[in-house]
Amino acid sequence: MEQNQHKPSLETVVSLCKRRGFIFQSSEIYGGMSGFWDYGPLGAELKRNVRDAWWRDMVTKREDVVGLDSTIIMNTKIWEASGHIGGFSDPMSDCRKCQTRHRADVLVEEQIGLDATLVTNDDGSKGFPEGIKCPKCQSTDLTPPRDFNLMFKTHAGPVTDEASVAYLRPETAQGIFVQFQNVVATARKKVPFGIGQIGKAFRNEVTPRNFTFRSREFEQMELEFFIEPGTDAEWHEYWIKARLDWYQTIGLPASSLHRYEYPADKLAHYASGCVDILFDFPFGIQELEGIAARGNFDLTQHQNASGKSLEYFDQESNSKFLPHVIEPSAGVDRICLALICSAYREEWINKETKEAVEAEPGKQAPDGHEARTVMRFAPRIAPTKVAVFPLVKNKPPVVEKAREVFLKLNERWACTYDQVGAVGRRYRRQDEVGTPYCVTIDFDTLDDDTVTVRDRDTMKQDRLSLSDLEAYLAERLS
Ligand code: GAP
Repeated sequence: MEQNQHKPSLETVVSLCKRRGFIFQSSEIYGGMSGFWDYGPLGAELKRNVRDAWWRDMVTKREDVVGLDSTIIMNTKIWEASGHIGGFSDPMSDCRKCQTRHRADVLVEEQIGLDATLVTNDDGSKGFPEGIKCPKCQSTDLTPPRDFNLMFKTHAGPVTDEASVAYLRPETAQGIFVQFQNVVATARKKVPFGIGQIGKAFRNEVTPRNFTFRSREFEQMELEFFIEPGTDAEWHEYWIKARLDWYQTIGLPASSLHRYEYPADKLAHYASGCVDILFDFPFGIQELEGIAARGNFDLTQHQNASGKSLEYFDQESNSKFLPHVIEPSAGVDRICLALICSAYREEWINKETKEAVEAEPGKQAPDGHEARTVMRFAPRIAPTKVAVFPLVKNKPPVVEKAREVFLKLNERWACTYDQVGAVGRRYRRQDEVGTPYCVTIDFDTLDDDTVTVRDRDTMKQDRLSLSDLEAYLAERLS
């Protein structure tokens, strides 16, 4: 798919998401809650399609990957061993003039460059490089950066004391590492192999922002791919390429994707190398997914802390070792946001030829053209695949036939039935939510069992026999 020339603004996307039922503010009737978002009827379908596409391609289809579904709350010792209790924090800083709170590292990145970092003072504390100011009021009077742990704390059980402290997981990855031995023992997989997991993660972000991009509750799709030590570089490259290709299968154009290699001093505490896949969001080029080479950091930590061997026994070489790990870790919410931004197009349609060109922002459609808003979702992730219309709503035989076709197709695909308004208006409604095909049942259908199928992108119509309809759709929707 081609990239849209005129990226929609974030306000346009937020407003479309609310108007069409993709994403709502959480707790909206109580004034909302910063960093929390709900998915409406279409958003829930979109998100499920993203998860399903990932699970299918990364787990089910691959002989060398199995799945896992671990809990959100786990033994607190896991977070001690993984380094999250000690080190999973973001540096924050307050503006003394306007009292706004900032992520200190983000200020440095935004004002100096992606590779820039906070400086380390002689006493080990962090400080700002020269020239950093508050983006809101331009004051340079900022408090020194101080670390703020991002994990949400709660208590498991009725007693609220130190012993019952528990944390909501900030990543799904640790659930995989601590079950490594059970999976090896039951799944009959040999290294190299991976364990994939999809689930919620929680981070008490200092400054949630850019809609769902940085939320406090979000969903991850993570693969821990266990490899023989020494094969890290080639597997890392393999997964970077596989993941870049995957984004194109769900409809993100290659030209909107970028690759960012971390400099050594910006790596997370566990990583020996990391490459991010970035997307061209309306608010800038930002991370969709991180692909880290974690060495055997996690298995070593859990082996030492638990006292249980997490070594893998390799029958061929008759030796034991702690596998290294390559970890492609993606955020479902960021992918959904990228898909919505990328699919959004305002077009001018030539009324005669039906040819569509991207509209010039803020301008009227030229003579002989009409404007439409269309979500050009790849069929694979489109929330609704097919809409079925009776041409008229007041002729029972046409309506009955349309209901029959709808119920049949709806068994196989997510479909919608609409009989309200002129057919042209019904097409526009489906365009705005990205439904790839509309099927219209009319008077001729009653005589010869043919229907009209209209394509969202080309707006061309095909007349075909009802008996060919499923095969026609299956070919185009798969
Ligand atoms: N296990 C590795 C890990 O968690 P990460 O880069 O911190 O790595 C992986 O997170 C992905 O999770 C990110 O690329 C992003 O897509 C998503 N993610 C992280 N924090 C997020 C947040 N606050 N809101 C939405 N998505 C987030």
